Amino acid sequence: MTDRHIEALVSELREHRDLPDASLLELLSTEQDTSSLHLQADEVRRQIYGKSVFLRGLIEFTNYCKNDCYYCGLRRGNSRVQRYRLSDEDILSCCATGYKLGYRTFVLQGGEDGYFSDERLCALVSAIHAQYPECAITLSVGERSADSYRRLRQAGADRYLLRHETANRGHYEKLHPADMSWGNRRRCLYTLKELGYQVGAGLMVGSPFQTDSNLIEDLRFMQELSPDMIGIGPYLSHSDTPFAAYPNGSMRKTLRLLSVIRLMFPYALLPATTALGTISPKGRELGLKAGANVLMPNLSPVRVRKHYSIYDNKICTGEEAAECLACLAGRIKSAGYELVSDRGDVRR
Ligand code: SAM
Ligand code: SF4
Ligand code: FES
Repeated sequence: MTDRHIEALVSELREHRDLPDASLLELLSTEQDTSSLHLQADEVRRQIYGKSVFLRGLIEFTNYCKNDCYYCGLRRGNSRVQRYRLSDEDILSCCATGYKLGYRTFVLQGGEDGYFSDERLCALVSAIHAQYPECAITLSVGERSADSYRRLRQAGADRYLLRHETANRGHYEKLHPADMSWGNRRRCLYTLKELGYQVGAGLMVGSPFQTDSNLIEDLRFMQELSPDMIGIGPYLSHSDTPFAAYPNGSMRKTLRLLSVIRLMFPYALLPATTALGTISPKGRELGLKAGANVLMPNLSPVRVRKHYSIYDNKICTGEEAAECLACLAGRIKSAGYELVSDRGDVRR
């Protein structure tokens, strides 16, 4: 396959926001130079969002989880994790620090922790909403009932991140034990949309048993769901999981998928993920140049950060919030973008 052939596919993808499966497969799996793919994705991102990079302050508020996903270091079967839950005071103090630093979106992320009943979580969301009415509140706490999602929305949550993980049922069943359901996760995503959340789907690139045609199924599923946010990063192994021996995903493939997604979903909010920054020191900058427009720095208290270990060698576990922000500001500038203090809602 020649560079000209790749360029032709990229132009067609940009124009039609779509390609036949076989052409998408070529783009995702090529070993050729894909700079034209990344350049076109960057152009499209600049047309819609300019040079802006939106920040989301991530608060990892509990690492308890009732699930046993085979890939994740927080799985309930991992007895080596030191479990923690942040108090409401801790969480509000993370928000206060974040607000002073210019964050206008807070992301509350955690394992599926039964302690955070609807009452407790709604009270927390209401308190944050009351203190910071101009800020967006994003939740990422896994699968809950439709009623729970409705109550949380009423309490003030605006957005929800729930990666679909894989659109292929057989693949989903290889990544999760039998008590987890591919169908329920999809249902949750549609329910969240109906309730008026800005919804984030997504997946790990290179998760065990994933094939390139699974990635095409992921793209087709996302075309149907039409998410506002799409979170993708490389799969990274964790030594205390059943998948410890499986290799990490590829950075280059992650970047190719990011650019393909930007061309298929021009308006999407796409993070350059911490996993991308973990797999390579310049991963997040390369992610921005490949079409990403969001960064999610950590606002959790430093004392708990190393315990939220979903994969090995996670970056930013020793730095205070202000240090991470200063570091990121430099990275954003060096990559040719502009950090903005803004809720950063999706443009449609
Ligand atoms: N418990 C919630 C859930 O699963 O939706 C939110 C927290 S969970 C840690 C957030 C995301 O981390 C998951 O959706 C998954 O894609 C990602 N993740 C988990 N283990 C990972 C790994 N080993 N490598 C890369 N990403 C991982
Ligand atoms: Fe729990 Fe989420 Fe990790 Fe699965 S990915 S074990 S649901 S924290
Ligand atoms: Fe966290 Fe660089 S972004 S230390």
